[in-house]
Amino acid sequence: TIDGLVETAPQLDVFRFEIVSQICALTGSTPDVIYPLLEEPRDRKNGDISLPLPRARLPGNPIELATSLAQKFKCNDLITKAAAAGPFLNFTYNRDTLRNRTIASAVGLGPQYGANATGFGNFGIVEFSSPNIAKPFHAGHLRSTIIGSFIKNVLDASGWGTVSINYLGDWGKQYGLLAVGYERYGNDEELEKDPIRHLFHVYVKVNNDASENPAVHDEARAYFKKMEDGDAHAYGLWKRFRDLSIVKYKEIYGRLNVQFDIYSGESQYSLGQMRDVLHELQDLGLLVPDQGALIVDLKQFDLGVAVIGKTDGSLLYLSRDIAAAIDRKKVFDFDRMFYVVGNQQIHHFKQLFKILELQGKTWAEKCEHIGFGIIRSKDGNMSTRKGTVVFLEDILDEAGSHMHEQMRKNEVKYAQIPDPDSVADVVGQSATMIQDMTARRSKDYNFDWDRIFSFEGDTGPYLQYAHSRLCSIERQAAPLEVTPEELQSIDFSLLTEPQAFTLVEAIAAYPDVLREAGKTLEPCTIVSFALNLSHAVSSAIDVLWVSGQAKPLAHARLALYVAARITLGNALRLLGLKPLTRM
Ligand code: ARG
Repeated sequence: TIDGLVETAPQLDVFRFEIVSQICALTGSTPDVIYPLLEEPRDRKNGDISLPLPRARLPGNPIELATSLAQKFKCNDLITKAAAAGPFLNFTYNRDTLRNRTIASAVGLGPQYGANATGFGNFGIVEFSSPNIAKPFHAGHLRSTIIGSFIKNVLDASGWGTVSINYLGDWGKQYGLLAVGYERYGNDEELEKDPIRHLFHVYVKVNNDASENPAVHDEARAYFKKMEDGDAHAYGLWKRFRDLSIVKYKEIYGRLNVQFDIYSGESQYSLGQMRDVLHELQDLGLLVPDQGALIVDLKQFDLGVAVIGKTDGSLLYLSRDIAAAIDRKKVFDFDRMFYVVGNQQIHHFKQLFKILELQGKTWAEKCEHIGFGIIRSKDGNMSTRKGTVVFLEDILDEAGSHMHEQMRKNEVKYAQIPDPDSVADVVGQSATMIQDMTARRSKDYNFDWDRIFSFEGDTGPYLQYAHSRLCSIERQAAPLEVTPEELQSIDFSLLTEPQAFTLVEAIAAYPDVLREAGKTLEPCTIVSFALNLSHAVSSAIDVLWVSGQAKPLAHARLALYVAARITLGNALRLLGLKPLTRM
């Protein structure tokens, strides 16, 4: 523990490092070559981990080399056997050591198992979700929310200091238009009840008006000018839209277990701050007037032309982002800033970072765009099965009610669930989140209700089911329980079956996988870990019973299941899921 931070020792990696260091010493190779080559042997009878020598590109005949290295390798309390099989070297872990260390760490550290201090002393900003008021919260915002919140959780679990920012789209001429629309179609009662939906409906109507009658645009422009000038009425109405929308957003984010430290937005950057940005660019000779626009020419960097503002004084998305980045550096002095935004904005962020760099902000290289692929669906937006609405809330409601129907089918179990509504809501949420995080971030995917809802296969409900089965074993084993103090008295050598070892190995991988996720910031790393662990859990539960066993065996198995439950729960929370104890 460093300053209250937990550092879970690597588990499986300790064994792998032992192999790597001996092999490097014997061959003169280096860890960066040898470590990535280690793989699971095709047949576990041959050992626990295997090194294919041909891929190590060492001098000499790989078959002869394998034989001589197997002889020279010194077995110890980590590796009990090294054997050659053709050009492969197969190693066997000291399974007692691995099992005892793993169960002790998981049970001992509990909710902290897996956490590490690799980010100690670093401060990161994660900006994510960032929907636009009065416009639908579309699939891209959902992905940003899920992935961004995951990244924040991973950084937190890796010892970083973090702050999460929701950078709302809440400023610009379109909010003048919204206000004009509200004066025509607005209804205070509906605004209070469901601001996001009501403002969207108003916005759609006034947009129609504007396309029929261009004078509405002039009205909107004039209204926005009043907002910018701080006119009390205009500003007050806008502020009410924003405040009420945030209340509603918070409720929806709550259903996704997402919180923001800061609700910021495009509106936070005043004309004054923006003019400073413009002047700075002007003084550096970067700003050029071009057909009514103010641009920065980035053609020599293959980034085209960046439009910063218009000569009429209005400023744009990009200029607000420049002001926001500079302000955040001043306030937080971050070591890294992550923008979690869809791949459609790759170009925008390249331009943003390049302009900051040209302004001499050396920290521009500490800013990173975390992109992700688009969700494809029939009408280009997420929609309900009937193909109508596009609100996140509807997606979650629909997922929840579908899960509720599924749960009702098993009457006996259903009767035991104290609060089926909220359980169904959590299962629905898990289904939606996991399907989003199963593939690599940058991949596009098709939004598919049937896949979301499946209880079988590699889905969110499957993960929740594994967790709740583990909890049920613990409930049934009472009064037998497993606490860190009791661990000493449990005889783990009774865990002899292959299913027990597979489960130990799956649990042991967690600290290593979490370190890996801290580097890749890929949720799929943790999803596949959790699925693999859940498979190991199911196989073990089928054969390794706790109930009806003599106490020492029951206690050893229970300890293994408690370690598995802790690990799976930690992984689910990292993914933003609320682990269920019953379902
Ligand atoms: N509100 C924007 C949108 O919906 C996303 C904002 C992304 N963040 C940023 N700093 N530009 O497209």
